Amino acid sequence: MSDKNTTITASPGPDAGKGKVIISIRDMRRNFTVGDETVKALRGVSFDIREGEFVTIMGKSGSGKSTLLNILGCLDTPTSGDYDLDGDSVAHMSKNRRAVTRNRKIGFVFQNYNLLPKTTSLENVELPLLYNPSVSASERREKARKALVAVGLENRINHRSNQMSGGQQQRVAIARALVNDPVIILADEATGNLDTRTSFSILTLFQELHSRGRTIIFVTHNPELAAYSSRNIVLRDGKIVSDTVNEHPLSAKEAYDNLPKDND
Ligand SMILES: Nc1ncnc2c1ncn2[C@@H]1O[C@H](COP(=O)(O)OP(=O)(O)OP(=O)(O)O)[C@@H](O)[C@H]1O
Ligand SMILES: [Mg+2]
Repeated sequence: MSDKNTTITASPGPDAGKGKVIISIRDMRRNFTVGDETVKALRGVSFDIREGEFVTIMGKSGSGKSTLLNILGCLDTPTSGDYDLDGDSVAHMSKNRRAVTRNRKIGFVFQNYNLLPKTTSLENVELPLLYNPSVSASERREKARKALVAVGLENRINHRSNQMSGGQQQRVAIARALVNDPVIILADEATGNLDTRTSFSILTLFQELHSRGRTIIFVTHNPELAAYSSRNIVLRDGKIVSDTVNEHPLSAKEAYDNLPKDND
């Protein structure tokens, strides 16, 4: 559809034809009313995200990144515009159906991990499955254990959140995002609280998940990270100013291996 480094402002996405469309948004707008003032946080955003893409979304503070991600993650609804997630129209769903859709289809990773305090990794990761009546208690434990192994925490399964480093806590949060086998993983500044070295180890994990077929949207204000994703969307004042394919993402593992080892 588009050449490398070509700026486009609307769908279809640059990976058109490669995988099925997981997310499709059209002319998405979100206004916030504060007192008698209206903040236009999103001012007409359109794109498609296809299965297997690793998309970074960037932009300065206040450009609308979290607003967009919260809508994509079914935590918020747009003022206007269409949103299709894996074939379902989300923008007009009831609150309850939206909550179920969020639970089954979205894995969310936050900057501050959002783990239950003083609760084990296993229990934190089991949590999203508690809302799924078709999963038995033993299945739940097994799925949670597998997700923790997938993020490299097989030896921290019974540690409590307050007994782990920031990087380990973020891995638990990523395992929790994976446990329901979501169609997409949404990360909001997932490396924002971490030192450089730990950030690259988490970025390496995201690249591994991507190479195993996961579809990922990773919001960050750090422009350096665009080099590690397969597509980068830049927002400014609630609008897309560029949408670029990266044919040759850098290896986060290589960057990690080349960092000095003494600030861990
Ligand atoms: N609940 C809200 N009520 C009022 N205004 C809001 C609300 N949430 C966001 N905004 C405004 O919408 C705009 C976009 O905010 P948003 O949080 O999406 O930015 P961001 O790109 O995620 O910024 P940052 O990099 O600082 O996290 C900002 O001007 C913000 O002040
Ligand atoms: Mg934000």
